[in-house]
Amino acid sequence: MNERLLFDTHAHYDDAAFDADREELLARLPSDGVRYVVNVGCDLESSRRAVALAQRYDYLYAGVGIHPGNAEACTPEALSELRRLAAQPKVVAIGEIGLDYHYDTPPRDIQRDAFRAQMRLAQALGLPVSIHDRDAHGESLAIVREFPDVRGVFHCFSGSVETARELVALGWYLGFTGVVTFQNAKKTAAVAADAPEDRILIETDCPYLSPEPYRGRRCDSTRLLYTGAKIAALRGKTPEEIYRLTCENARRFYRIP
Ligand code: NI
Repeated sequence: MNERLLFDTHAHYDDAAFDADREELLARLPSDGVRYVVNVGCDLESSRRAVALAQRYDYLYAGVGIHPGNAEACTPEALSELRRLAAQPKVVAIGEIGLDYHYDTPPRDIQRDAFRAQMRLAQALGLPVSIHDRDAHGESLAIVREFPDVRGVFHCFSGSVETARELVALGWYLGFTGVVTFQNAKKTAAVAADAPEDRILIETDCPYLSPEPYRGRRCDSTRLLYTGAKIAALRGKTPEEIYRLTCENARRFYRIP
């Protein structure tokens, strides 16, 4: 399959897991059918690296943001730096940002402050957001509702069909990783089957979350083939239809012409 229609909406090629072969891999992805990648940041340093990668690879775009696990770093100075980075060419989103109550560090009030501050930044800049929500569905949705002008995607969506429908009603998108292929991910599969077709995005979150049959191995954007094929099977479509559809959705979402 080399129709160049895969759009990886959330990747971490700045991660150390790619240090040994990053350039080789990124040079090869387009010929393996990967048409677009958005590399999101987790802190200032990885946001800078995401912007630098976007400057070097035509098909690669960047998100800049501070992950909830690093929320203590979201100082006023850091927010100014994010604002400066967001003005660089090919920065298409603020992210990843959000709440992580699974690891639950730093304390929740610090996570909430960093999340709101970056939502305000997205609002001011008119950029979409990529949300990390782990075990914090209720509060994430409540904060999203405080910013009716901001649109975004819940990356690696892990909530219920009901929460997914609420997000869709607010104009939001749902991101699906390799998790949808896991045998125990019944809830995620139910959401992927139920969601309106114009709100589905696919992503790798690479190097993490490789789909079956590669679960546990290092992931890269070519593995979207398996995630897309699983969603196609759940929805009674062909894999090619899902690759094309999710690529169109992602270009609309990130405003990539
Ligand atoms: Ni991620």
